[in-house]
Amino acid sequence: MIVVTTPTGQIGRRLVHRLRTGGSKVKVVVRNAGRLDDDVREQVDVVEGSHDDPAVLDAALPGAEALFWLVPPNPAAASAEAHYLAFARAGREAVRRHAVGHVVAVSSAGHGWPRPAGVLSAAFAMDAELRKSGAAYRAVSPPFYLENLLGQLPAIRERGVFTLTCAADQPLATIATRDVADTAAGLLADLSWTGQAEVPVFGPDRLTPDGMAEVLSEELGRTVRYDRVAVADFAAMRRSQGASERVVADAAEMFAAQDEGIYDRDWASATITATSFRTWCREVLRPAF
Ligand SMILES: NC(=O)c1ccc[n+]([C@@H]2O[C@H](COP(=O)([O-])OP(=O)(O)OC[C@H]3O[C@@H](n4cnc5c(N)ncnc54)[C@H](OP(=O)(O)O)[C@@H]3O)[C@@H](O)[C@H]2O)c1
Repeated sequence: MIVVTTPTGQIGRRLVHRLRTGGSKVKVVVRNAGRLDDDVREQVDVVEGSHDDPAVLDAALPGAEALFWLVPPNPAAASAEAHYLAFARAGREAVRRHAVGHVVAVSSAGHGWPRPAGVLSAAFAMDAELRKSGAAYRAVSPPFYLENLLGQLPAIRERGVFTLTCAADQPLATIATRDVADTAAGLLADLSWTGQAEVPVFGPDRLTPDGMAEVLSEELGRTVRYDRVAVADFAAMRRSQGASERVVADAAEMFAAQDEGIYDRDWASATITATSFRTWCREVLRPAF
């Protein structure tokens, strides 16, 4: 039996479908079972609660062969590191208590980056904790999610603009979340692997933001241009919204690291996934647009 956290999220939802289609027995940990897809609720065992709660994990993990672990994003957390570690420490202890043999987590590309990288550093700290559980461990390590762009649909629709903090002419490594889920599904469907390792997974193209704007324009049938936002301007905007200095730094350090190429050195060793930017625009962004 495989225990899956965040079964209502972008990655977890697709993962559950993939595991069920493949015939795996699945138990999900979910805060509110009412948010599960109807067919899923009938096909899986359900434990209600949050996976930072030891009692919830104690209800979920007895008899589990493997655990899929994802720390829910929380941009408002007082500190990204504290947030990721609170989840990871609960997970580490529960995996130990229940002698779960295999853990697959969603982390981030960029392990070994020598400077603080905000939210990405927090994901690396999560890996370090989960490795201490002693389970065989795979840190699925993707770069920037294409789905992050969905939040920009109103700006694209209303002003024909999307914004990031990266240089317009610098390639940005990206991936579609469905490919992250499929990578995790592959690892969980065949537990013959041993040891602990990072698994960098990248989408097939590394377009520049200007290159993305070109594809977006073609696929949406209207002109879309890229506008760069300076990290300092982003930070000032978040401060003016009342965000704490730590919260601002967690995001600003991450954007700066992305701009400085935190994903680049994983590129050579990464598994390259199927979904190109153009395919993603056609199959995910355009219908949402
Ligand atoms: N965005 C990126 O570019 C990027 C890149 C690399 C790695 N990552 C990592 O990818 C992960 C995000 O994956 P995703 O996009 O699949 O997430 P997502 O779609 O935002 O899903 C989050 C899930 O967490 C659940 N959740 C929210 N708060 C919770 C809590 N307090 N306790 C328990 N469950 C909670 C939500 O379920 P309910 O609301 O239904 O409870 C939902 O199922 C993060 O760990 C992030 O660090 C992101």
